This record gives sequence, structure tokens and C-alpha cells, in this order.
Amino acid sequence: MKINKLILLLVSALFFFSCSDDDEIINRSEVETPITVKASFNYTVSTTDPYIVVLQSTTESSVEYQSFWDFGLGGGVVSDDAGIDEVRYNEAGEYTVTYYTIYDGLTTIATQTIIVDENGVCPDGFCGSGETGSLKDAAATFSVGTITRASWVKAGGKHTEILKKEFNNITSEYEMKMNVMYPSQGNYDFSAADAMVNFAQENDMNVHGHALIWHNATPSWVDDFAGTNEEFEVMVKDYITTTLTRFKGKVRSWDVVNEAFEDRSGNPLRNSVFRQKMGDDYIKKCFQWARDADPDVLLFYNDYNMASSTTKRAAMFKLVDELGDLIDGVGAQMHISYEGPSKANIQAVADGTVSRGLKLHFAELDIRANPNEDITSLTNDRAQEQRAKYKEVVQIYNSIPLENKFALTVWGVRDNESWLIDFWGNADWPLLFDSNYNKKAAYFGFLEGLQ
Ligand code: XIL
Repeated sequence: MKINKLILLLVSALFFFSCSDDDEIINRSEVETPITVKASFNYTVSTTDPYIVVLQSTTESSVEYQSFWDFGLGGGVVSDDAGIDEVRYNEAGEYTVTYYTIYDGLTTIATQTIIVDENGVCPDGFCGSGETGSLKDAAATFSVGTITRASWVKAGGKHTEILKKEFNNITSEYEMKMNVMYPSQGNYDFSAADAMVNFAQENDMNVHGHALIWHNATPSWVDDFAGTNEEFEVMVKDYITTTLTRFKGKVRSWDVVNEAFEDRSGNPLRNSVFRQKMGDDYIKKCFQWARDADPDVLLFYNDYNMASSTTKRAAMFKLVDELGDLIDGVGAQMHISYEGPSKANIQAVADGTVSRGLKLHFAELDIRANPNEDITSLTNDRAQEQRAKYKEVVQIYNSIPLENKFALTVWGVRDNESWLIDFWGNADWPLLFDSNYNKKAAYFGFLEGLQ
């Protein structure tokens, strides 16, 4: 709850007024029973945010009394009647919280010290102990995804612990792309994909297959294909059919084509080897082969800058319209920053998808906290701005109709594992967990977006 400054001033005045000599005009002789005012309070840490304390007062009193809080944040006292029972302590430190009850100039005071460290409030000396539910349980109406790697699911430990607790949809970061699954002609290698798919099955999670066709993950033998265009097409059809058949019933959805459009003016189709050898309708062909191989699997087109670029969004929706029944959903990569794109532009991606009756995947969500390289560590202010953006994205997603919901996927678990560090070459903290797997403010922003 926000503390309104005006209320604060008024109530402060009231408090000091209550303690002044003017109260002496009350005729004590009219009070027949002895006056008792006994006040105390306790606090608990919010279940959704370890920086918020929930204050609860208990007052035994034989008379009407007024009560006030001083949260120890500076700024004086506030009336208890304002219903303020939750306070957020953003900065690490010690805060003296005081609860006052006042009757007839008689003030009862109860105080407690609240200690906050970088993990949140510390009740009983244990910081950040506000136990939260999980992202997947809180989301309820859609899947919450993240990425993993075969080596990580095999290693177990904290990574898989968080995967199992928080997420119910996994995407392979890079091992379900063509260069890994089809390293040389006629020779498929699904060992890494199998490891992740098996892990998902054992733990009751969905797998989102990412990505069958992506110009950035094409094996060199495909880039330098030795054969005719007809042979190339047969090869691609075989690759899609083999892959989808193998994972039938085990992979819920696939990005059939990833990032087909260029960013430059007009957003033309990228001149990938697939377009060169199969023509402009290569995307449609790939979707058709995927549909034929597994009629039940959900098929997505996935791309970036869908929110930030109106023209790219239009190009993508035009393609989607041309695909008609062949496509089930749109994957909007959400590699964004705390500064933008704007809420309205993110909303436009959701609206365009919903109006077409398609499923929406907010895919590859990460929110850069340091796009301008103006910080060297994640400051509390910046963490709060990032938290607000996570909340906004989740709120937009959570507000779409149920039938359009699919999944929201975060591109990584821990900050230090984010692909963005290499990609942009500077320090950043774009994810929900820090490098020690502690929940960040961003994590709570995600939860807040669901409220
Ligand atoms: C990235 C992975 O995170 C990296 O590990 C890999 O080296 C390159 O690909 N858009 C996508 C993702 O569709 O597949 C990319 O993932 C990030 C950008």
C-alpha cells in the first residue's frame, strides 16, 4: 500500500495534537472503570515478496483509542485506521517499528526492530525466509517455461531442483536445433534432446521444441549443400519428418521456423539457405511437413522485435495469416529491457495474436537491466525497475483469454548463465535468479504480474 504524504502529515499532526495539553479538558471523573490499554504487534514476511512485512496489531483496551504506526522509514507516524498493514523495506538495514495507542493523552508504545539484508526481511534472524509458492502454481492458467541443457539435467543439483519447483515447460537452449540434431547428412544425433525430453517426462513437464529451422543454427553441410534444390527439399522434409515422428507425444509444441524476417526496411524474408533453395514459400512447406508428421503437435512461428517494431510485427502477422490452419501459435521472443518496448507495443503483440484466434507464446523472456552500461552491479533501484517490467509483461500475458494462453518462457534461470552476457559483451542481470540461485526482485515482479 502506498503511503499518501498528505495523510501522513495530517495524521502526524493528529498524533502530536493528541499528546498535547488540550486533552486535559476531558473529565476523568466520568470514567468509572479503570482504563487499560495494552498494545502489541507482530509481523510476518509476505508470502510473495521477502521485502514486505505484514504488520498485525493486537490491542486490549477498555476504552476507545487511536492507534498509529511509525514504520521506521522516516516521515513520522501514520494512522492505523488507514488500513496500512504492509510495508516494503527496499534497502538493507535495521528499522525500528513503533506502534502507538493513544487515549486521553496516555500513550502506549510497542516497538520491534526489523532487520533487512539483500535477501529481504529477516524474521528470527533468518533473512529472505518469506516462503513463496512457485511460478508454475501461481500462473495456473498457462505454462511457465525456461531453458535447460542436457548436461544440466544430467548433473541434477540446484538447477534441476529449481526447474522442478518453479517450471512446467522446458526448452532446450541449443540442443534441439538443426546443427546439433542433424550434424552430418544421413546421421541424426538426438542424444541431447532425448536426455531433456526424458527428464521432462519423468518430472511431468512439457517440452517446447526449439527450433527446427533457424538460419543461425544450420550445420555447415546444409549451408554448403552438395546437391540439387530438389534434393535439398527432400533432405529438409526428411529432417522435419524424422524429428517430429521421433518426439511424437513427447514434445508438445515446436518452433517450426525461427527468425525468418530481416530487421531492415521492409522486413524482407532473410535470404537463408532455405529460402535460396526452396523459394519464398519454404516456411509454408516446412509447416506442412511438420503438420503431416504429427497432426497433434502445436506449431509455432517464433521471432524477435515483435513488440518494438511495428513493421516486423505486421510482416509476421501477414505470414501467419498466409499459413492459415497450418499454424497454432505465435512465439514472440521477449528479449527486452527495463526501458522498453512500451506496454502498448507489448500489448499489440498479444492483441494481434488473440484477434487471430492463435496461441501466444511469450518466448525467450529476459529483461536487460544494464542496456546503457551505466551500472557495474545491480542496484536496488534498477532491480525495482526490472521488477516492474517483469510484472508488466506477465500482467499482459495473464490478461489474454484462456484459449489463447500457452506458455511464458524465461530464457535462463541464473543471471550469470544468460546468453546476453556474451551477446552484448557487458555486465547484466536479466533473469529471475541471481548467480547463487537466489530469487531476485524480478522473480517477485513475475508473481505480482499474476495477482
Ligand atoms: C541462443 C542460446 O541462448 C545460445 O546458447 C546459443 O549459442 C545461441 O542461441 N534467439 C533464439 C534463441 O531464438 O535460440 C537464441 O538462443 C537467442 C536468440
